[in-house]
Amino acid sequence: MGTVILGTGSCLPERVLDNHDLEKIVDTSDEWIQSRTGIVTRRIAGKGDETYKLAIKAGARALQDAGISAAEIDLVVVGTISSHMLMPSTACFVQEELGLSNAFAFDINAACSGFLYGLDLADKYVRSDPRQKILLIGAETLSSRTNYADRNTCILFGDGAGAAVIGHSDSESGIIGTNLFSDGGLWNLLYMHAPPSCNPDIEQENNPGAHIIMEGREVFKHAVRAMEKAVSGLLEREQLTVDSIDLLVPHQANIRILNKLVDRLGFSREKVFINVQKYGNTSAASIPIALDEVRREGRLQTGDVLLVCSFGGGFTWGAGLIKW
Ligand code: ACO
Repeated sequence: MGTVILGTGSCLPERVLDNHDLEKIVDTSDEWIQSRTGIVTRRIAGKGDETYKLAIKAGARALQDAGISAAEIDLVVVGTISSHMLMPSTACFVQEELGLSNAFAFDINAACSGFLYGLDLADKYVRSDPRQKILLIGAETLSSRTNYADRNTCILFGDGAGAAVIGHSDSESGIIGTNLFSDGGLWNLLYMHAPPSCNPDIEQENNPGAHIIMEGREVFKHAVRAMEKAVSGLLEREQLTVDSIDLLVPHQANIRILNKLVDRLGFSREKVFINVQKYGNTSAASIPIALDEVRREGRLQTGDVLLVCSFGGGFTWGAGLIKW
């Protein structure tokens, strides 16, 4: 008896940017990118693929998959760090376009952990009132926040959206637990500027643009250690072992981070779902896009134990366990 995922959906822009395209933009190579990240292609938003539009399409598909009507949704949450506008939230655009007239709506800024933080929040709403139904979306167009003159970052990111409808079930299935963290002290290893949060008449800042800035090696080290700790802490708390996990759907950051993580956990690489080679790092959208693909490929059976984990700017990170 618990909080379950009732349906999933996703939406990827059609335009593909491959490593050879990037070779023409910055000093890099397909070989370097593949060996360091595992990424081969990523999707890039064009006109009509704005973050809220991808979110709306992914959300509509999740509602249809769950067989839930618009009127039944009580809450819409979107994890994003690339919203179309600072105000209103992307979630408000989704609410309006999908006609979710009984819902309230807001965004979560937790970078790549946005979907996982939202899952934890949704679980708490549903536990407090089992009638609640939540549309949870991760949607990003990080290509719009990427400096394509910076080879350290521009090879990594892609665009897309994924969604899940979350509610209560009387079955044995449900969210077993979550384990979330953040550390604002390390913000300057991975960040993106916004317009200055002070009055420009008083203080003129030299704003370098809303681009992602990253210390790659440091992020790598922190990501592996932090996710390992979050997963082992959660397993210990729930009195489970890595052997009890049937599938790991991690945030698709890059293949080297993921391989290192699973090796340190003593987890079989065959039980890890990977699609980073196709989409790159889609931040808050990566887990729900992967979940949608996993379900469509029939890789989850009733009773399976699913592990999700993420790490992103903030830093924010965590892990979650779901009995399918
Ligand atoms: N093409 C070719 N060479 C490059 C590129 C590129 N795109 N980018 C950097 N290099 C060069 C560097 O300039 C450096 O050259 P030098 O030795 O002459 O100075 C050399 O490659 C090694 O650079 P490093 O930064 O040390 O390379 P590293 O092996 O650490 O790989 C990478 C870089 C892929 C960014 C790695 O650090 C990483 O994966 N970090 C994690 C970043 C991440 O995933 N961020 C996403 C957000 S957080 C998250 O989602 C978990």
